[in-house]
Amino acid sequence: MGTIVITGSASGIGNAARTAAEARGERVIGVDLRDAEVIADLSSADGRAAALAQVLEACGGTLDGLVTSAGVGPPFDPHAILAINWFGTEVFLSGLREALAASDGIAKAVAVASNATTTTPNLPDALVDACLELDGATADAVIDDLGDMAMPMAYAGSKMAVSRYVRRHAPSPDWAGAGIRLNAIAPGATLTPLLQGGLDDDLYGELIRGFPVPTGGFGSPEQIAAWIDAMLTPMADFMCGSIVFVDGGTDALVRPDAWPSSYELTF
Ligand code: NAI
Repeated sequence: MGTIVITGSASGIGNAARTAAEARGERVIGVDLRDAEVIADLSSADGRAAALAQVLEACGGTLDGLVTSAGVGPPFDPHAILAINWFGTEVFLSGLREALAASDGIAKAVAVASNATTTTPNLPDALVDACLELDGATADAVIDDLGDMAMPMAYAGSKMAVSRYVRRHAPSPDWAGAGIRLNAIAPGATLTPLLQGGLDDDLYGELIRGFPVPTGGFGSPEQIAAWIDAMLTPMADFMCGSIVFVDGGTDALVRPDAWPSSYELTF
């Protein structure tokens, strides 16, 4: 058994992941605004730096697992969505990589992305690129130009950046080569306080209810956490850079042939 950091551990998917990991005997260091070992506000750079320092102190520089689940969604200030969902994820993935590499076994990192990545049309590349370059000023400027679409684009953009980070880094010597398995989960609509906040809003409530879910209904936090928990165990020793969609079939319905896809190679 080992030590696992879970951000967003006080509620929803993160809380269900905590329960599942603790049931297997793991020690969990939770990070959240409340009810956590590390109380932190990930919306500011200072809050993120303080959280990272406290986590490193609590784990003594060695970790066996990480789940980045802290997040917010529409309706919410779009700049805060980006700060919490993207910068609040990147700081832990990058900042805890060395601690994960110091694990005795094969460490696991699971980033919580979303099926908003593939089901949100017209997502600006400039937003995702700015995130991945850690250029918050440019990302915020792109958001400011998006008008009514700022909130959903900030959400989808933050999750696309998380997904790209995982795809780009997971197979690298610093991650796979250092004994860390980095993967992401992409949930669909899951009944948590975050989703309820959207359902309670006139505009987003109508959009969420109208969004097709082939299985019907919403997922539960426990259904998502079961997959996250598996991705923290030896079941995931050969899993690297995967984005696991658990979304009731929405992604498959909206873009059946989009991926897997081949690529061009000129001989
Ligand atoms: P939730 O609202 O139940 O849990 C999110 C947690 O993040 C809360 O405990 C909250 O206090 C924490 N958090 C929010 N802002 C924070 C801040 N500034 N600093 C520190 N912690 C903060 O929401 P849920 O649904 O469990 O969300 C977990 C993750 O799953 C999020 O990243 C979300 O984007 C993602 N997700 C959720 C879906 C859904 O339908 N519920 C669908 C796809 C992805």
